[in-house]
Amino acid sequence: MNIVLVGTQWGDEGKGKVIDILSQNVDYIVRYQGGNNAGHTVVTGNKEYIFHLLPSGILHKGKICCIGNGVVIDPVVLLKEINDLAKSGIAIDSRLKISPLAHVIMPYHKNLDLLRESKRANKIGTTGRGIGPCYSDKINRCGIRMLDLLNAAVLRDKLKDNLNEKNEIFRKVYDHPGFNFNAIYKEYLGYGRRFRKYLANTTLILNEATRKGKDVLFEGAQGTFLDIDFGTYPFVTSSSATSGGACIGTGVAPVSIDKVIGVAKAYTTRVGEGPFPTEFVSDFAEFIRQKGKEFGATTGRPRRCGWFDGVMSKQAVLINGITELAIMKMDVLDGLKVIKLCNAYKYKGKIFKEFPYDLQVQKNAVPVYKEVPGWPETRVKPRTFKQLHPNAKDYLKLLSDMLGTKISMISVGSAREDTISMV
Ligand code: GDP
Ligand code: IMO
Ligand code: MG
Repeated sequence: MNIVLVGTQWGDEGKGKVIDILSQNVDYIVRYQGGNNAGHTVVTGNKEYIFHLLPSGILHKGKICCIGNGVVIDPVVLLKEINDLAKSGIAIDSRLKISPLAHVIMPYHKNLDLLRESKRANKIGTTGRGIGPCYSDKINRCGIRMLDLLNAAVLRDKLKDNLNEKNEIFRKVYDHPGFNFNAIYKEYLGYGRRFRKYLANTTLILNEATRKGKDVLFEGAQGTFLDIDFGTYPFVTSSSATSGGACIGTGVAPVSIDKVIGVAKAYTTRVGEGPFPTEFVSDFAEFIRQKGKEFGATTGRPRRCGWFDGVMSKQAVLINGITELAIMKMDVLDGLKVIKLCNAYKYKGKIFKEFPYDLQVQKNAVPVYKEVPGWPETRVKPRTFKQLHPNAKDYLKLLSDMLGTKISMISVGSAREDTISMV
């Protein structure tokens, strides 16, 4: 069975936790888009791991973890991640397979990301990890790929071309001294030598696995509304964060995908700028932020918080082909008197039941809410659906009916055991 797991909101839905749990039952886990803008948290016992590039299934011994061609790789970050895991006693050895076609985030990409942001009138609030500039070079056909790091002559030519153009931009547009060829060339050839043993034809590996009836889990990063096409453009990331990205980013064909699972928080969060129709007003936002520990796993920035948005989630179900949902962080809503669920937007007297494409409407839409009674704080974490408070069950039923999708997992805490499986 091949399963794609996607974020249905603006990222940070709890994908890392769900991937870690589902990884027990699969053979391969593969990241297919994004880069180290992602921060996927897995909590085991009293240890917390945050994965930026390695698939979140890596903690499970014997599972093969792939980084697909659609990912952009910062070798500095990947190396640190591998070394940190080794220090924690987790061996990667031959379990990591990296596509030679994956593009490399170069030092100038990170600086360009920060400098572009600093000049923009309407800031995106990027993670500053060089994601946008690296994907731009990919599309612009001047990117450097992992396989280029293995070939000194190819790397030299590509790097020279890039620096010729980019150093002019750095100096003339950004008043920045630019980058030295020799230093980057030497350093990145070194990464080639270091990563050579991990490079493998991941497309072939995953297709072979599929043919043999093995199970593959495709780990989405970011979320539907950060998708370059379907997100709240231009306040998005630079990759296809929707389920279609899994095929493009791995070379596994759509006919080989069996199931798409969507991950959603029981409320909504967003890091960075851009529209957020159901965003809370200040005091309550701070209350939920503290209760849900809503601070970015990558940048540490406070996450903006709001009510569950059914209009967005319905669109996410449609675009991704979601047939099952994992609803996360139900515990954070414990103790509220009233909980609101947005099922439409109002703008200039018009009701929107479908997610509007116009940024002006997204920005100024007034949510139409259905209010439901909350449930008390739980002293003992529920372990089965039956143990949930009746009002919590009703909330989940409403949510599932609104989206026309079944809920297959409910999460009531960050630990593995704080999970209710519905299958
Ligand atoms: P991802 O990017 O989608 O993997 O999500 P992040 O790891 O960035 O953010 C999710 C955060 O919520 C992490 O700190 C998780 O440990 C935490 N988390 C996941 N599920 C739950 C839950 O059900 N309850 C609570 N309180 N925290 C959770
Ligand atoms: P995970 O996988 C939440 C947001 C940034 C910014 C926008 C563009 O952990 O869910 P970028 O650096 O990608 O050019 O930034 O996208 N963003 C995320 N927000 N979770 C993520 O990943 C994100 N990755 C990018 O905050 O608003
Ligand atoms: Mg995250």
